[in-house]
Amino acid sequence: MKRTGLSITALLGICFFSAYISAQEKSTRINLNIDMTKDIISRHIYGHFSEHLGHCIYGGYWVGEDSPIPNTRGIRNDVVAALKRLNIPNLRWPGGCFADEYHWMDGIGPRAERPKMVNTHWGGVLEDNSFGTHEFLDLCEQLGTEPYICGNVGSGSVEEMSKWVEYITFDGESPMANLRRKNGREEPWKVKYWGVGNENWGCGGNMTAEFYADQYKRYATYCRNYGDNRLFRIAGGPNSRDYHWMEVLMKNVSYRLMDGVSLHNYTVPNNWRDKGSATDFTEEEYFRTIDRTLFMDELITRHSSVMDQYDPDKRVGLIVDEWGTWHNVEPGTNPGFLFQQNTIRDALVAGINLNIFNNHCDRVKMANIAQTVNVLQAMIFTEGEKMVLTPSFYVYEMYKVHHDAALIPLHFVSPEYEYQGNRIPAVSASASKDRNDIVHITLTNADPAAEQNITIDIRGGSVSSVTGKVLTGNELSAHNTFDSPDVIKTEDFKGAKLAKNTLTVKLPSKSVVMLELK
Ligand code: AHR
Repeated sequence: MKRTGLSITALLGICFFSAYISAQEKSTRINLNIDMTKDIISRHIYGHFSEHLGHCIYGGYWVGEDSPIPNTRGIRNDVVAALKRLNIPNLRWPGGCFADEYHWMDGIGPRAERPKMVNTHWGGVLEDNSFGTHEFLDLCEQLGTEPYICGNVGSGSVEEMSKWVEYITFDGESPMANLRRKNGREEPWKVKYWGVGNENWGCGGNMTAEFYADQYKRYATYCRNYGDNRLFRIAGGPNSRDYHWMEVLMKNVSYRLMDGVSLHNYTVPNNWRDKGSATDFTEEEYFRTIDRTLFMDELITRHSSVMDQYDPDKRVGLIVDEWGTWHNVEPGTNPGFLFQQNTIRDALVAGINLNIFNNHCDRVKMANIAQTVNVLQAMIFTEGEKMVLTPSFYVYEMYKVHHDAALIPLHFVSPEYEYQGNRIPAVSASASKDRNDIVHITLTNADPAAEQNITIDIRGGSVSSVTGKVLTGNELSAHNTFDSPDVIKTEDFKGAKLAKNTLTVKLPSKSVVMLELK
């Protein structure tokens, strides 16, 4: 893991960006050309993912209509109210690995009559199908978010997937539309985002890229556009650095049939057998976590370069629909439920990744952190009637200012965070201008000890005020619990000063900051 040089992130920075830094003084100069906006940062980069896994759906969202926990048609009111603060743009469901063994017809009709199944991927628990298509789409309506449904390729059929699209989106007379009406929904729903399988190189069927590409074409052909519902069809893409998988899909499937290709990449601090504790970790593990998070930039750059060869007009989006930290489960919890705590380290992972996605918004059209409630890098934990917000939640709340704003490319090279002779960039950043011409910059400082002095030269316009928010903690492992829910939360940021068009920022160690310039 020893790095003797700069990461690809920093090297690219040197090639394309002007900069002058002094690593000793931990100071950075950033050029912010506020008149030079580029592509739009799709709000869908701020998407979420919720699977039938552990207590994400059951207990996380769904408590049932008869629960003493306040709910609307079975869906918890507290969780919906909290998530509405994030303006979640889309929600991916029902998996994940679960998607490729889910048969949607088991999840419609009277709940008492729905067949039960075993959730073999996640803990071998009984799935009673009480949360199905109608409940999910009700959740999306309550959240004001767009559904992103992932269909079953691994153990399903073309007919089954085709009928699911018809059931949900067809307005006229047809067997599936009539069945939907019989089950209580007259109007079709609008569903744009449609996944054709999940991880088909692994839990979704252990296929080769070549076999999947052919299967994809069969399935996608019969996912029809009904009325004015236009599907955005997303192919099951590569696992992390499997560039061959990307190459095969891009070469063999036309953009007319494929609007997006998914990419999955998790940040695992140690290794898959012993990922490391979410709260009890060394600086070495912390350093490795940040280093592996920064790898997302290289990964997107390399996949984009493959996509560019076949699709220079960027008609096909890169959809990073599973990402986030993956730690060991909390001691004493079901290993199949993937429940992990969430610290300031996870907040930094979120902030860095989101900056990377923003800066690649020409190709990255959607991203979905895994998973919203009680699973992996969650926004929210619930236990019975209790609910607590995680540090990652606050990052999403701060960063929502970038939704559908125009990217302002930043010009800087980060000072380094050094640990035992290994070096990585300490600072990550992205900036955008919204529809009201308000400029936002989001910054992270991964250095656990040193603050950063940042000077931002504003060019191409003028601003007259700066305000901000900061998320940090006394220690890297600081986190929120049901008993102490406010250990980590955003505070007003007082460390930014504006003098004419020069902004000076004192970025605290281990922090995520959002600045607003008017
Ligand atoms: O998010 C947990 C699992 O990770 C998903 O079900 C699967 O797609 C991935 O391997």
